Amino acid sequence: MIELPANKANIKKAAEIIKSGGLVAFPTETVYGLGANAFNPIAVSKIFEAKKRPFFDPLIVHIATISTIGEIADGLDPIETKLAETFWPGPLTLVLPKHNSIPDIVTAGLPTVAVRMPANEIARELILEAGVPVAAPSANLFGRVSPTEARHVANQLGKNIDMILDGGKCEIGMESTILKIEDGVPFLLRYGGLPIEEIEKTIGKVNRIVYTADTKRTDTPESPGQLTYHYSPLTQLILIDDIKSIKIEKTKAGLLAFTHPQKDLPFEKIEILSGTGNMREAAANLFSCLHKLDSSNLDIIYAEKVPEEGLGKAIMDRLTKAAKKDNLNFY
Ligand code: TXA
Ligand code: MG
Repeated sequence: MIELPANKANIKKAAEIIKSGGLVAFPTETVYGLGANAFNPIAVSKIFEAKKRPFFDPLIVHIATISTIGEIADGLDPIETKLAETFWPGPLTLVLPKHNSIPDIVTAGLPTVAVRMPANEIARELILEAGVPVAAPSANLFGRVSPTEARHVANQLGKNIDMILDGGKCEIGMESTILKIEDGVPFLLRYGGLPIEEIEKTIGKVNRIVYTADTKRTDTPESPGQLTYHYSPLTQLILIDDIKSIKIEKTKAGLLAFTHPQKDLPFEKIEILSGTGNMREAAANLFSCLHKLDSSNLDIIYAEKVPEEGLGKAIMDRLTKAAKKDNLNFY
């Protein structure tokens, strides 16, 4: 694996790797993606292998221009067109009827394909240079904390991929919001980097069928990727309502605080999502704070709940799933 700064020459190199069937980790505004040529099933199978991801969990296909959408999906309905025009490029993924050109391995055999046009310039240049749509899940081991910096990718996947393009920290730091429109009715499949409130301002009420950490094992997921256990640090994580209520029994406890906590708390390490309680900043810092706490040799991480407004919904979705260790054997 080589980790290189994302300048023009290296983006070209990365595009060559994608064209020749290899794997490249690259920055997007949400999280780092692990990309392969979406038309090449062998290349895509390497993504599953590198991530240890089960084949039933479909991938998102990334495009650089709306003009290429017809190569991937069988058209956009009026609501999808409005969403694409309003929010692309950006942190929104649309689940669309799949075009024949997309191999089944990308969509886990589903008749639909998830598509996104990232806003990050490096990502878009890479896709343009490669000349093919790029299938890319988040560049982490399956079920683990998503990467928002190149070194997070190197730590988890370094040995198994061909290149990491280092484009610095991801601006949004939270995966895309996923929507599916069925017969003109919009459904939210995953809370993410585009607040649902903003989407509803554009297209009206959106139905929620998001899978929460409390979804029962017997429930059939609408989307195979909607696992209840996810985004997990290796260290046990517990969600808390009130820092004062914690009785620390284990010696090495860490705290993930929403904003500045009171002084003199008995934690080995404290990470603060946003000193000013700004939700955008909190979302951008969530995964990097989790990576820091997880590599600090702690026995337990306590995570303070955040208000469930705007991006707070996506943060709470990730934290409740991260806390759901007992679901490790869900599938
Ligand atoms: O921001 C993001 O979306 C990042 C960056 C790299 O673009 N990607 C990402 O991919 O988060 P990943 O693989 O971690 O999540 C993809 C999820 C799947 O787990 C599944 O829930 C959903 O997208 N998905 C993909 N294809 C689908 C389909 N055809 N129908 C329903 N859900 C689908
Ligand atoms: Mg992921």
